[in-house]
Amino acid sequence: MELTINRTAEQIVANDSPLKDARPPVLVRELSSADRDRLLTHFLALDEDDRLLRFGQVVPDHVIENYVRNINFSNDKVFGVFGSALELVGVGHLAYLPAEGDKRTAEFGVSVLESARGRGIGTRMFERAAMRSRNTQVSVLYMHCLSRNSTMMHIARKSGMKIEYAYGEADAYLSLAPADQSSIMTELLQEQAAVFDYAIKRQAHRASQVFQAFMPTADAA
Ligand SMILES: CC(C)(COP(=O)(O)OP(=O)(O)OC[C@H]1O[C@@H](n2cnc3c(N)ncnc32)[C@H](O)[C@@H]1OP(=O)(O)O)[C@@H](O)C(=O)NCCC(=O)NCCS
Repeated sequence: MELTINRTAEQIVANDSPLKDARPPVLVRELSSADRDRLLTHFLALDEDDRLLRFGQVVPDHVIENYVRNINFSNDKVFGVFGSALELVGVGHLAYLPAEGDKRTAEFGVSVLESARGRGIGTRMFERAAMRSRNTQVSVLYMHCLSRNSTMMHIARKSGMKIEYAYGEADAYLSLAPADQSSIMTELLQEQAAVFDYAIKRQAHRASQVFQAFMPTADAA
C-alpha cells in the first residue's frame, strides 16, 4: 500500500490550522550537528522502557552519548519538534541504508518525550520522514519495533505500512510513490514554517531570560 503525500499549500495550511482541532499545529524542523547537545538531552530524558522501545534494548547513558556523537548529518536526516523552552520534545532519525541496485531504503526511528505524547508529534514526524524519503528517491521506508509497541504499531498501520511480526518484534514497510512537484513544495513549505516557528520561540525565550535577569531575587527582597 502506498502513502501518497500529495497536498496543495492550501491543504497544508488548512490541515495545520489550530482551528481544525484544539491542538496546536506540529511543526517539524530539520536538525543539524549544531543540535547535538539538545539531541543528547532529549535521549537522556527517555526512561528505561522508552529506551527499550526506541533502540531495541535498554541502553545506558554512555551508549546514547556515543550514538548522538556519531550521527552522520551528511548522510542521515534528523528531524525535531521544539517546545517553548527550545527543548526537543520529539526527535526522528531517518537513516539511509546502503542502496541495492536501484532500490533505495531508509530506516526511521522516533521518540517523543512522555510529557508531549498524544498530540500528533510522532505521527507528524513519521509523515515528514516519509516525505523526505520520497523526495530523496527512497522507494521503501522501513521501521523496526517491538511488537508490543502498540502506539507505534497504530501509527504504522494508519500510515498504510505493511507489518511483519516475528519473535516479539515487528518490521514495518511503506512503499513510496516517486517525488513530484507537490511533494517537494509541501516539504519546503513545512520546513519554512518550522524554521519561522523556531525563530519566534527563540526570540520569546531570550526575552523571557532578559526579563528574569531584571527580576529582583529573593535575597534582594
Ligand atoms: C511512539 C511515540 C513516538 C508516539 O508519539 P506520540 O507523539 O505520542 O504519537 P501521536 O500523538 O502522533 O500518535 C499516537 C497515536 O497512538 C494512539 N495510541 C496511544 N496509545 C496507544 C496504545 N496504547 N495503543 C494503541 N494506540 C495508542 C493515539 O490514540 C494516537 O492515535 P491517533 O493519532 O490516531 O489518535 C512515543 O510514544 C514514544 O516516543 N515512545 C517511546 C519510543 C518509541 O516507542 N519509539 C518508536 C520506536 S521506532
